Amino acid sequence: MAKRTLTDKRTIVTGASSGIGKELVSQLVQRGNQVLAIARRQDRLEQLQSDLENATGTLTYLAGDITDSEFRRSVLDWIRKNWAGCLDVLINNAGVGSIGPFADSSESTLRQIMEVNFFAAVQWIRDLLPALKKGRSPVVCNVGSVLGHTAMPSKSEYCASKFALHGFSDALRIELSADGIDVVLVSPSTTKSEFFASVLDGACQQNKGMSADRVAASAIKAIAKGKREVILSYGGNCLVLADRLLPTTLSKWLTRWYRRQPQTDMDA
Ligand SMILES: NC(=O)c1ccc[n+]([C@@H]2O[C@H](COP(=O)([O-])OP(=O)(O)OC[C@H]3O[C@@H](n4cnc5c(N)ncnc54)[C@H](OP(=O)(O)O)[C@@H]3O)[C@@H](O)[C@H]2O)c1
Repeated sequence: MAKRTLTDKRTIVTGASSGIGKELVSQLVQRGNQVLAIARRQDRLEQLQSDLENATGTLTYLAGDITDSEFRRSVLDWIRKNWAGCLDVLINNAGVGSIGPFADSSESTLRQIMEVNFFAAVQWIRDLLPALKKGRSPVVCNVGSVLGHTAMPSKSEYCASKFALHGFSDALRIELSADGIDVVLVSPSTTKSEFFASVLDGACQQNKGMSADRVAASAIKAIAKGKREVILSYGGNCLVLADRLLPTTLSKWLTRWYRRQPQTDMDA
């Protein structure tokens, strides 16, 4: 894993229209990078571009669904035309969740979550590997979650997707080291964003947690320092440590806690 200067890097950020992704784009453009922002809501991306028009770097956006292979192909074409087929930084940040007991959920919810959080992220990497191989100090940053290390009730589908992304990132890091491509896994804990209002089931308001700009700043620092993994927040680190050192105790505690909770009141 290499240290790198995050300026003038050809960078893709998915999930750029709100929350952590929007902050990542802002900070990266202000640091002088060339950023291609991806999300479905074009009006949001347009606004972000106009907010950043005087920044040192550049922001271009392509609006589309990351799970759509045609859209991914159009992004590859764009990279070929505009960046001579080279990419330095890929940040897989787009994500969705769902809140509620597994027994009340559906196959379609699980499939949508896995499509966005896992299959699309993996497919973006697969499609962009040739461009990354031609990049300068190339790096893939996958935005996971503390819930990709420690499982929580009422978030079984989301946990499954983030555990999958975690395992995939760890294996890929070893494989890609031969090509000089780094893989960073950034695992935020509860973050103030639109995430809880846009979950597929069990939408709610969430006013607790880290700010999205702090999460973005920590992710950028991790990429620049060549970290393999960062778990954000003190509480997140304690939870992951407890899961590793005292799994039975934590599981018993979570079981008691879950039985006392109203279903929609739990943190991510
Ligand atoms: N908020 C938290 O507490 C928390 C905690 C741990 C980890 N995370 C992770 O952090 C990442 C960012 O989440 P956030 O908190 O910033 O949530 P957010 O504000 O809801 O942002 C999610 C972003 O993903 C994009 N997106 C979702 N589905 C997409 C699709 N099919 N195609 C293209 N873009 C799509 C959304 O854009 P459009 O709707 O415009 O497409 C939006 O820009 C996610 O991976 C999430 O799992 C969040």
